[in-house]
Amino acid sequence: MAGVTLKGVQKRFDKTVVIKDLDLDIKEHEFMVLVGPSGCGKSTALRMIAGLEEISGGTITIGNRVVNDLPPKDRDIAMVFQSYALYPHMTVRENLEFGLKIRKMPQAEIKKLVDNAAQMLGIDHLLDRKPRELSGGQRQRVAVGRAIVRQPAVFLFDEPLSNLDAKLRVQMRAEIAKLQQRLQTTTIYVTHDQVEAMTMGQRVAVLKDGDLKQVGTPMELYDKPANVFVASFIGTPPMNFVAATITDGGATLATAKFNLAVPSSLRGVTALNSGRNVVVGIRPENILEAGTETRGETAALQAEVEIAEPLGNEVVVHARVGDALLVAKLDPHHVPKLGDKVDLLVELNSLHLFDAETERRLE
Ligand SMILES: Nc1ncnc2c1ncn2[C@@H]1O[C@H](COP(=O)(O)OP(=O)(O)OP(=O)(O)O)[C@@H](O)[C@H]1O
Ligand SMILES: [Mg+2]
Repeated sequence: MAGVTLKGVQKRFDKTVVIKDLDLDIKEHEFMVLVGPSGCGKSTALRMIAGLEEISGGTITIGNRVVNDLPPKDRDIAMVFQSYALYPHMTVRENLEFGLKIRKMPQAEIKKLVDNAAQMLGIDHLLDRKPRELSGGQRQRVAVGRAIVRQPAVFLFDEPLSNLDAKLRVQMRAEIAKLQQRLQTTTIYVTHDQVEAMTMGQRVAVLKDGDLKQVGTPMELYDKPANVFVASFIGTPPMNFVAATITDGGATLATAKFNLAVPSSLRGVTALNSGRNVVVGIRPENILEAGTETRGETAALQAEVEIAEPLGNEVVVHARVGDALLVAKLDPHHVPKLGDKVDLLVELNSLHLFDAETERRLE
């Protein structure tokens, strides 16, 4: 097994720069997720690691070998695609065996690996079927099985679950995460779904327009997003953002319609940045209804309800405070109506502050 290191990796298609200057270190045994909106360069980055796409600059190292000029078959990787890419005329067993046969592995060893993988994935009863006789989830398992039997140093997954229905996706993502924990194979997993990224990744790398915006554990990204983009991308519903100015020597966040007192936990930062224009980030889960239990210092706001979306376990309320529209996750036992006035409490220790110009987190 092996770690994967990208150093100054670039990709251009003619004059279009798709990956700018990517540095990323994936440790041996690690499950790393690359996440970002459509077109940000996730598949391109993965395909460069696989050797399916040439790199325009930088170096890619797998284990202790620079693989820039190695063809895919010599990189000791196995890739699972969104499309599964199974051979339609072969049975499941033949699909699983194929990569091993062309490597001229002895038949007895092939059988052992295939039977083992099939059992691990719960497809041992399907080995004689053709792919067209399988459900989407079963096909997906065969595609994963084909990667497992190769026993590669690194698994590469490119949105392997996006063709499955929502329920199966949740099930398969847990299965893949468990499988990786068992096999301990270094894994790079691409998705555009932030929930998938947060639930599967030991660490998550967030890309936007070919730029790495932040890499960290799911909780690091959630608790300390490095910039407005990561803050808005991680978490559902997304974080609220309100423009404000730090005033009173760092004691107050003044927005157009209301003031928030800066809690002691943030005073160090605001004192150094008095007078600065900032974007204040407030997660919906840190806005609560007055009277419910809160943590730490709070600020009271009165808001007028515009939309309430009851989801059973919570109600997502869109409410207006002046010209700021705030989204809050509230207790579902009381669903407010359009035009209702609600008294809200903002948990001030959970505020996030970003520079208005650079959009970087103030630390
Ligand atoms: N062969 C190509 N020639 C020119 N541009 C390309 C080529 N392949 C990809 N691109 C461009 O590179 C950018 C990144 O594409 P990529 O497929 O890596 O995105 P992605 O993050 O995987 O998106 P998605 O979530 O939609 O799969 C896109 O803007 C795409 O149009
Ligand atoms: Mg893609």
